[in-house]
Amino acid sequence: MRTPLVMGNWKLNGTKASVKSLIEGLEAAADAATNVEVAVCPPAIFMEQVANLTANNSIKFGAQDVSTHIDGAYTGETSPVMVKEFGATYSLVGHSERRQYHNETNEVVAAKFVAIQAHGLVPVLCIGETLEERESNVTSQVVETQLKAVIDVAGINAFENCVIAYEPIWAIGTGKVATSAQAQEVHAHIRNWLKAQSEVVAEKVQILYGGSVKAASAKELFAQADIDGGLVGGAALIITEFVGIIEGAK
Ligand code: PGA
Repeated sequence: MRTPLVMGNWKLNGTKASVKSLIEGLEAAADAATNVEVAVCPPAIFMEQVANLTANNSIKFGAQDVSTHIDGAYTGETSPVMVKEFGATYSLVGHSERRQYHNETNEVVAAKFVAIQAHGLVPVLCIGETLEERESNVTSQVVETQLKAVIDVAGINAFENCVIAYEPIWAIGTGKVATSAQAQEVHAHIRNWLKAQSEVVAEKVQILYGGSVKAASAKELFAQADIDGGLVGGAALIITEFVGIIEGAK
């Protein structure tokens, strides 16, 4: 049995005040949901504040992105060692917004994945197709290529200790959630594709769905056999919505 994971991706949002009220608003629901893992990915500058606010509750946290470099002359970067020092558990890698706006190729994503694991963090590898790709019926090939790029570098066994987030790009921030059947179809495909390489990995790896998840859609999505929780953007910034999504994973 895989434990469901509900992870909030705050993206470029927050103030010290909103971070405090969000975590304080979530902690009771997170602690009560003993069979659900709850995590948030704040902007890096709020990581220490989140570390302090989560010291005595079950909420975990992660980075939204890290550098492949550990230290040195790389202005503006945050290293996985720094993120680990602040007590983070996870780091997202390969989010479509990083791929799109920061030109992160599959090769860059693979290098980051390796750096994240090398420094004791769990990578949350984001993959997913554009609307054009879905309409051209190449969704399976797109997610396979994205996974293969990482497996070629990190090895299949590295996936025993990672999370995959399937996020169809056309559903991110658009309000267009994939139907539970559409999502399950891709999740099952991903798991079967992994199974051909390692049954252990395929059984163990949590595959989250992301893309306009709301409290109203969470329960049905998470009831699908191969959907092990969600990566939540917009709705993670609204306490009642995010608590509803956690409830949906119970
Ligand atoms: P959304 O974002 O829930 O706002 O669609 C999801 C994500 O980008 O991780």
